[in-house]
Amino acid sequence: MDHIGQMQRTIERLTSPGRGILAADESYPTITRRLSDHGIESTEENRRFYRGLLASTPGIGEYVSGIIFFEETLGQRNDDGVMIPAACEQQDIVPGIKVDKGVVELAGSGGEKVTQGLDNLGDRLDGYRDQGALFTKWRNVYSITNGTPGVQALEANAEVLARYAAIAQSRGMVPIVEPEVLMDGDHDMARCAEVTEAAQSTVFAALRRHNVILEYIILKPNMVLPGKSQPRPSPEVCAEETLRVLRRTVPAAVPTINFLSGGQTSEEATANLNAMNRAGGAKPWVLSFSYSRALQNPVQAAWNGDPANKEAAQRAFLHRARLNSLARKGEYDP
Ligand code: 13P
Repeated sequence: MDHIGQMQRTIERLTSPGRGILAADESYPTITRRLSDHGIESTEENRRFYRGLLASTPGIGEYVSGIIFFEETLGQRNDDGVMIPAACEQQDIVPGIKVDKGVVELAGSGGEKVTQGLDNLGDRLDGYRDQGALFTKWRNVYSITNGTPGVQALEANAEVLARYAAIAQSRGMVPIVEPEVLMDGDHDMARCAEVTEAAQSTVFAALRRHNVILEYIILKPNMVLPGKSQPRPSPEVCAEETLRVLRRTVPAAVPTINFLSGGQTSEEATANLNAMNRAGGAKPWVLSFSYSRALQNPVQAAWNGDPANKEAAQRAFLHRARLNSLARKGEYDP
């Protein structure tokens, strides 16, 4: 198959009805933080066991169409001795890979951040594809304060995100384009909407500049929500404000929007996705999930680092994934 055919096939699989994406691609520092929240040590064996458990959960392919991994996992085997990407394929789950190298300070910006990882990216992608990965992820972060993000941070981040997406497509791999406006802070929803609209419109201008084929990307945005310290809005209000921004910024050529959870509780993330799928008005894209914390928190709590809890952890994952599958269809009943 040529590159276009490969990307077409990958998009079809990833957007198949009732399914969404699991992000299990935490870098070493992030997975260490997440596991330590549950008193679990982040050893190589624990990471292998845990991510193998996720990918091998019986029946999970009904709700999960793709799993994003960190590069370590592509070379690991599950408890049955099957390579984890191959274990995904056994359940018709597409394996993906996080390819950015995290954020560094954007020089000259007074402390804003830019994502790095473009050096040798094409060669790295060839290696990941040989290990079975068919799609990729790159995450930008935008922090809301009174004066940020500034134009410099918006432009610099959009440029690297678009260059990454163009490189991924040149290898026949579908890029997840993730401009995340963080929930940290005490801003209101209107401010989040304003920044999200600025971030996304800058990103789509850059994608166009770099000739990225919109039909073969996945947009992974934040939902429009107030800062963490503020009272939570109803799912209907979150859906209305989020859809307003998406309609203004995301071309109808984009096949699918898979939200991040961004620190929402599991219940909040499911209810908000459900409300988007129930809302009226123009919605020319699939609206689904690409959650990490909102899917994994209950699984890590059930596992607790004890191999004897493997089946309980898999039951927790299946349950949460099923609820998000219902939300993806607007059929979740909180
Ligand atoms: P959360 O759902 O925990 O925000 O993570 C999604 C993700 O992959 C961030 O890059």
